[in-house]
Amino acid sequence: WRPDEELDRPRLAASGPVKVRVPAKINLHLGVGPVRPDGYHELSTVYHAISLYDELTARRGDTLTLTMEGEGAGELALDESNLVIRAARALAAHAKVPAHARLHLRKQIPLAAGLAGGSADAAAALVACDALWGLGLSRDELATVAADIGSDVPFLVYGGTALGTGRGEAVSPVLARPSSWHWVVAIADGGLSTTDVYRELDRLRDTGEAARLPGHASNPLLGGADRLLAALRQRDPAVLGAALDNDLQAAALSLRPGLADVLKAGHAAGALAGLVSGSGPTCVFLATDGPHATRIAEDLTAAEVCRSARTAHGPVPGARVI
Ligand code: C5P
Repeated sequence: WRPDEELDRPRLAASGPVKVRVPAKINLHLGVGPVRPDGYHELSTVYHAISLYDELTARRGDTLTLTMEGEGAGELALDESNLVIRAARALAAHAKVPAHARLHLRKQIPLAAGLAGGSADAAAALVACDALWGLGLSRDELATVAADIGSDVPFLVYGGTALGTGRGEAVSPVLARPSSWHWVVAIADGGLSTTDVYRELDRLRDTGEAARLPGHASNPLLGGADRLLAALRQRDPAVLGAALDNDLQAAALSLRPGLADVLKAGHAAGALAGLVSGSGPTCVFLATDGPHATRIAEDLTAAEVCRSARTAHGPVPGARVI
């Protein structure tokens, strides 16, 4: 797939509904640096989009409204605080058009799970409204608007596998030879606040319970991402498994000690590797192939250590019109 294949050409506003599918993300590597003056942490991360999707439909309307069904319906505010509404308003302001649309979200990606579900929905809103309003913005332009909505939103505009720096919003797609990785996603009961997990990592580092910073002489953050990208190029799941790494894992485990049982159960089920996804509490496990992933998911379900265990593959494209 080519990131810009649908969006580079200016086009007419859509007359009918526009349906956009957007994936969840995991972080194959997440190196967290010091807190910056703006309160965010400097990151070096390798994002990876997986085949667990939300769907957003945009229709013409006289105002901006949002309805939803599925994961988290009834829990998620549908007002101006919602990332989907914020994304639509930001795009309208950028393009100087009225923010008029009726948006409907079908959610499968759980909330506050470390899978960037809210950010994915915001990316979907940008792509859907771009098509509905006939703006014809490039993916790079949409990613610029996305950066103001949240750190993970630009990546979900691109999808695939990508290096993220800055607070995560500076995204460089990784042009890898086609390969597919097989994952098991262990979804937990209840979420974790991203802010709380970052704060817990700062606390653990202050008290010496977590390593202060990953060691790399010139740029302490970049070494780990380089190692992960080199492992990806080898296309061997055992090599990739050994390179997976997440600085937020210690903090997520500290706030949710039961996650250690999930990681243990995945290991016992024969996963090549397992780690907390982003800020958690979702855990992801690497399998050698699709059938292996199915067996691991069955074992995790039988072990009753998580709400549900699902298989997924990656990389997959970012938010796009279907
Ligand atoms: O960018 P986003 O709004 O998704 O971030 C949510 C929260 O996660 C931030 O308010 C901040 O507490 C934390 N965060 C951080 N450093 C980053 C990204 C997120 O501290 N690079």
